Amino acid sequence: MNHEASRSLYDRALSVMPGGVNSAVRAAPQPYPVFVERGEGGHVVDADGNRYVDWICGLGPLLLGHDTPEEVAAAVQSRAAEGPMYGMPSEIEVEHAEFVSRHVPSVEMIRFVNSGTEATVSACRLARAVTGRDKVLVMQGGYHGAQESTLVEGDAEDASPSSAGIPQSFAEHTVPVPFNNVEAVETAFEKHGDDIACVLVEPVQANMGIVYPVEGYHDALRDLCDEYGSLLIFDEVITGFRVGGLGCAQSEFGVEPDITTFGKIIGGGFPVGAIGGKTEYIEQFTPTGEVFQAGTFSGHPVTMAAGLETLKYCAEHDVYEHVNGLAERLREGLSEIVADRAPGYTVVGSDSFFKLVFTRADGPPQGGPCRNGCRQDPGCERYGECPKRGTDLDRAETERYARLFRPEMRERGILLSQNQFESNFVSYGHTEADVEETLEAYKHAL
Ligand SMILES: Cc1ncc(COP(=O)(O)O)c(C=O)c1O
Repeated sequence: MNHEASRSLYDRALSVMPGGVNSAVRAAPQPYPVFVERGEGGHVVDADGNRYVDWICGLGPLLLGHDTPEEVAAAVQSRAAEGPMYGMPSEIEVEHAEFVSRHVPSVEMIRFVNSGTEATVSACRLARAVTGRDKVLVMQGGYHGAQESTLVEGDAEDASPSSAGIPQSFAEHTVPVPFNNVEAVETAFEKHGDDIACVLVEPVQANMGIVYPVEGYHDALRDLCDEYGSLLIFDEVITGFRVGGLGCAQSEFGVEPDITTFGKIIGGGFPVGAIGGKTEYIEQFTPTGEVFQAGTFSGHPVTMAAGLETLKYCAEHDVYEHVNGLAERLREGLSEIVADRAPGYTVVGSDSFFKLVFTRADGPPQGGPCRNGCRQDPGCERYGECPKRGTDLDRAETERYARLFRPEMRERGILLSQNQFESNFVSYGHTEADVEETLEAYKHAL
């Protein structure tokens, strides 16, 4: 494949943008990223005219793929043509809020913002205001955007900022515990319970592998939050409208959080975030409450149209059947390939996202072949070996993925997640042929 145009664009970009990109992970691909010219269905075409099956899918927002169906495209275009935004309320915001509150069990009211980061920042501020407490309990290996309260590393007794520029005093209000370990949360609550404003958790850890919760994990979080008077916040920026369909992951796991943060799919491919929950909490935002929250672009009409029409389209078509079916076929196919070529690796994912984790076991794999996406099933022969928390990926073969495997897949016309930690996403634009082509490439590249 010729990558001359991407190479030259990257060269120019390095002079005017840090690392040549506008979001750090985009610079991860070796030796340099492809620059995309356009998307088509489940594919993208790069600046050199190379066509790829695209499993990055915008990092999650593009549930329908790159070609938006006619009704979605028409709604977006007509909103854009009517003047892109007003800084005053418009009907489409009301319609979108009504749709979300009809479908997501815990959401009675919603505030739209412009990114997942903005949503989690506002959700933490809200929880602190409602409870009058400062601490936020998070999961190690979780990701909640580029925000001061959650960019931490360490453990419950010794947290420090994971980025330069964040004062140590911020990390002192954050309590990181290992995911899928109820005891660790109990211990943290015993010690800090009176100070914990909220537990902030991705229902499925999706930014460091895809790690499913063990049975009853979210129920336990719910109970502990109730016992100690803390709020439970589900960060559904990735899982929202992907895991559990229109009801989101909370409907899949049957647990109602107090507050939910959204992003990605809820904006249909345009910049978005949202904080939803019970009226008594969401009404604490200004102007009804005292928790300051505002944004010039919040509830942007074009974003609202894209998001609402995307979700309406999902409600009326076989979108979830299609994407979940293709992802299942991918996970099954990967399990077969891995059993043959890399039996120590783990196939993870559910619904319409998937990943092969380059796990590194201490010895030869115990148990039989990896199943179709790890569900933390204690009955599975590999239960003892599978990743239980995102941080287990620290031990994965990340260099092999980055330097050997991913570039080889790219040369075979398949774009996978930009590093070993992120997920791959299936869209309505993908086809069975894309799946088979991808599995064939895995066979050669592994
Ligand atoms: C679970 C989760 N929360 C929050 C965010 C931040 O969202 P954004 O990148 O829109 O700020 C992300 C981004 O990937 C995410 O995966």
